[in-house]
Amino acid sequence: MRRTIDWADGAIVIIDQTALPAEYRLLELRTVGELVDAIKRLAVRGAPALGAAGALGVALAARLGGDVRADAELVAQARPTAVNLAWGVERALAKLPEGADAVLAEAQALLTEDERLNKTASAHAAEIVLAECPRRPLRLLSHCNAGHLATVGWGSALGVVWHLHERGLVEEVLVDETRPLLQGARLTAWELAQAKVPYRVQPDGAAAAAMARGLVDCVLVGADRIAANGDVANKIGTYGLAIAAKHHGVPFVVVAPSSTVDRRLADGTGIAIEERDARELTEYAGVLLTPPDARVFNPAFDVTPSALITAVVTEHGRFTS
Ligand code: MRU
Repeated sequence: MRRTIDWADGAIVIIDQTALPAEYRLLELRTVGELVDAIKRLAVRGAPALGAAGALGVALAARLGGDVRADAELVAQARPTAVNLAWGVERALAKLPEGADAVLAEAQALLTEDERLNKTASAHAAEIVLAECPRRPLRLLSHCNAGHLATVGWGSALGVVWHLHERGLVEEVLVDETRPLLQGARLTAWELAQAKVPYRVQPDGAAAAAMARGLVDCVLVGADRIAANGDVANKIGTYGLAIAAKHHGVPFVVVAPSSTVDRRLADGTGIAIEERDARELTEYAGVLLTPPDARVFNPAFDVTPSALITAVVTEHGRFTS
C-alpha cells in the first residue's frame, strides 16, 4: 500500500480518509490552508500521520515563502490532542535557518523513520501479546484506527496484527466501530479486509459483552499522547475499554512510536482533549438524528490511567515512567 501521507511534485499527497471505504482517492494539498482543513476534517488523521503532516506542512510553507513560523503555528494548532502534530512541526522548523530544502529533507527523514519505528514498536508489542495471552490463535480487539492509515505506513496497534497474522496466529479481530466518525468500521475494517485478516465489526457498546463472553484475548490500541507516568490519551471509548478489560482480566496493550510520548506532562490530567462539532452526533449523512436543539458532549479522546494498562510499547520496548 502507498504511504498514507507523502510529498510529490511540490505538494503533500494524502489518502483521503473521509472517502474510505467507498472510494480510495488521493488528495493533493498545495497550500497550508488546504493542509489545515484536511487535518481538521480528518482527511489525514492518527497521531503518527499527523506528525508527518506537521513536518510536511512546514516544508510546504517554507517552499511557498511567506511567514513560515506563522503558518507552522496554524498547522500545529489544527488539532490539540496528538502531540505528534506539534512535534513534527517543531522538528521541521528547527531546520528553517538552513533553508527550504533542509526542511523538506528533515520532513522526509521523519516519514521514513515513522514507518520503521512503528514496525519495530509493533514487533515488540507482538512478543508482549504472545507472552501475556496463552490462547492460540488469538482473538484481538481493536478500537479506532491505529493502522497503516493512522501512520505513514504499517501502523502501531494494527501493526501488531500484521506481525501476528504473518505467523498465522490471528483467529479474528473484533473491530469497535468507533462512534461517531467510525474510524473502526470504515478504516480498520477496510485495512483488515485488504490484508485478508478475519474480522467482525461490533458496536462500541458490545466490547464489554464480548469480553464477558470470553471472546477477547487482548485489547490493542494506539495512543495520541502518553504522559510521563504512562497515562494514555486515545480515541474516546478507550478508557471504558480499559476498565472492562481490567474487570475481565484481559490484557490491554498500547502501541505507539516514542514521538507520541510527552514527558513534559507528569500525568494524563494535563492532556488537552479536543471537543468536536455537535453535528458529528446530531446528524448522519445530512439526516438529523436528534431533536434539532439537542446539546451534545463530544470529546474526541479520553485518558486511560496507567494502572489499567498492561503495557505501553514503543520502538524501545516496554515504556517505563
Ligand atoms: O481522531 P483520530 O482519528 O485522529 O484519532 C486517532 C486515534 O485515536 C488513534 O487511536 C491514535 O491516533 C493512534 S494511531 C496509531
